[in-house]
Amino acid sequence: MQLIKNEIKKRDHAIKNICCIGAGYVGGPTMAVIADKCPHINITVVDVNKDRIDFWNHPDVNNIPVFEPGLSNIISRVRGVNLHFSTEVNDEISKADMVFLCVNTPTKTKGLGAGKASDLKWIEACARQVAKSAVGHTIVVEKSTLPVRTAKTIQTILESSQPFNSESNGNKTFSVLSNPEFLAEGTAIKDLESPDRVLIGGEDNQAINSLSDIYSNWVPDSKIIKTNLWSSELSKLSANAFLAQRISSINSIAAFCEATGGDVREVAKAIGSDNRIGSKFLQAGPGFGGSCFKKDILNLTYLSEYFGLKEVANYWESVIALNEWQKQRIARKVVDNLFGTISGKSIAILGFSFKANTNDTRESPSIDIAKKLLEEGANLFIHDPKVEKNQIEKDLNIPEFKHSDYDENILRANNEEGSWMYKKSIKDALYNVDAAIILTEWNDYYNIKWDELSLNMRRPAWVFDTRSVVKPDEIKKAGLNLWRLGD
Ligand code: NAD
Ligand code: UDX
Repeated sequence: MQLIKNEIKKRDHAIKNICCIGAGYVGGPTMAVIADKCPHINITVVDVNKDRIDFWNHPDVNNIPVFEPGLSNIISRVRGVNLHFSTEVNDEISKADMVFLCVNTPTKTKGLGAGKASDLKWIEACARQVAKSAVGHTIVVEKSTLPVRTAKTIQTILESSQPFNSESNGNKTFSVLSNPEFLAEGTAIKDLESPDRVLIGGEDNQAINSLSDIYSNWVPDSKIIKTNLWSSELSKLSANAFLAQRISSINSIAAFCEATGGDVREVAKAIGSDNRIGSKFLQAGPGFGGSCFKKDILNLTYLSEYFGLKEVANYWESVIALNEWQKQRIARKVVDNLFGTISGKSIAILGFSFKANTNDTRESPSIDIAKKLLEEGANLFIHDPKVEKNQIEKDLNIPEFKHSDYDENILRANNEEGSWMYKKSIKDALYNVDAAIILTEWNDYYNIKWDELSLNMRRPAWVFDTRSVVKPDEIKKAGLNLWRLGD
C-alpha cells in the first residue's frame, strides 16, 4: 500500500511542502522569495540554532538575523502564512515532499585536508536526519556549495536508511538534485527575484521537473539550466573562482597603477568596455571577503590536488595569495604614510562588513587589516552602519577598550598593544584621529562632509580610501592628505 502511495506521490510531481534545513544567509532569503512567489507551497525553514530561529520569528521584522535590502518586507508578507521558522527538524522533514540542504560548508580546520577541503559534517548530519525522518518519496536538493560528487555521498547515506529494500522496509525513496545558489549578499533579494540563471543538476527527470516547476512561477524557462549532477556541483565552484579571479586581477593592476602613475578606475573602465571582458567585478578594493570565495577556491585547489592536477591547484591558489597580499599591502601603506609608526595613534576604520548592505563580516578584509594595525599598536575607532559591537569583538578576538573616564592621552600612552573602540556615528569615529580608512563602500561614506568633520581630526591627517568612495577634490579642500587605492 505504502509503495502505491509513493508511486502516486512520485507521479504527481507538484510540490506542496518544502522543508529547508539551515536558516542562514542563504536558507532564510531563498525560502522567503520562494514563499512569496509560490503561495500554494508551504515552507518551513528549520535550524538547530534556537536563537537564530527566535530572531526569524521576532515580532519586529527589523530584528530578523539577516540584513538584506527588501527582505524584511517579504518576511512581513509571508511569515506565518506559507513561511514558517522552526527548530522541529525531524518533524518538518517528515512532512516535506522536498528538502533543501542549506547548511554551512566551511573549510576544514583539522584532520585530512585541513585548511582547504570543505567540512561536510553538517551536510552529512542533515543527510542522516533526512534518511531517518523522511516519509514516502522525498526530493533532496543540495543548495549548499559542495565539492563535486557530494551528491553521491548523500545518495549513499539516504539509501542506507532502508537496509532490506523489502516492501515493509522500503517505504522511503529519494531523488538527489544539485541546485546551487548564486545570490550575492547585499543584493540577495534582487538576485533571487531575477536570477541570471537557475541551475538544476540531476539524474531523475521527474524530480528535476518538480524543482524547475517551482522556479517557473517567476523565472523564465530560458534561464533554467538543466545539467548532470557533477556539472552542476562543479559550475558553482567554478563561478565563484572566476569571479574572485577578476578581483585579484584588478587588484594586481591597482598595485601596478600605483607604481607607474596609472589610475585603476580609468584602466578598469577602458578594459571593461571590451565586450569580451565586460565591466562587472572590476572594482579594485581591499581584497575580496565573504564566506564563499576563499572557501570555494580552497576547495577547488584541494580537489585539483586530489585528482593529481597540481598545476591547476597552483593557478587557483595564486588568486588567494594575491588577495592576502592586498590586505597586508594596505595595512603597510597606512603605517608608511603615518611616518612609519602608528603606535599610540588613533585611526578610524570606516566599514567592518565584507561589502556594503550586509551585516555579514565573514572573511571581511577589515578584520585582517584591523588586526595588522592593532599589532602595530594603533587605537582603532570602528564604525559600521550594520555590524554590531559584539560581532567586532568576536572577529578581533580582543575585548573593546574600556576606560571609565575615557581620556585620549591615557589611550595614546598605554597602548603598546593597540586597542579598539566601537563608535556609533561617523562623527564620533573621526574625532581626534590621525587617519580614516574606508574599507567598506557603505552609502553613508559617500556622503561624509569632510570639510566639517576634518576640523576634528588631528593634523596632519590622512584619508585612506580603498573603495574609491571619496571625491579627491573634497579631501584636498578639507586640508587632508589622501591615499587612494590604485592611484
Ligand atoms: P550560515 O552559516 O549562515 O547558515 C547555515 C545554518 O545551518 C546555520 O544557522 C546552522 O545552525 C544550520 N545548520 C547546520 N547544521 C544543521 C543541521 N544538521 N540541522 C539544522 N540546521 C543546521 O550559512 P550560509 O551563508 O547560509 O551558507 C549556506 C551554504 O550556502 C554554504 O554551503 C555556502 O557556501 C552556500 N552559499 C552561501 C552564499 C552566501 O552568500 N552566504 C551564497 C551562495 C551559496
Ligand atoms: C559571492 C558571489 O558573487 C555569489 O554569486 C555567490 O553565490 C556567493 O559568493 P558574495 O560573497 O555575497 O557573493 O558577494 P560579492 O558581491 O561577490 O563580493 C565578494 C567580495 O568581493 C566582497 O568583499 C566585495 O567587496 C569584493 N568585490 C566584489 C570587489 O572587491 N570588487 C568587485 O568588483 C566586486
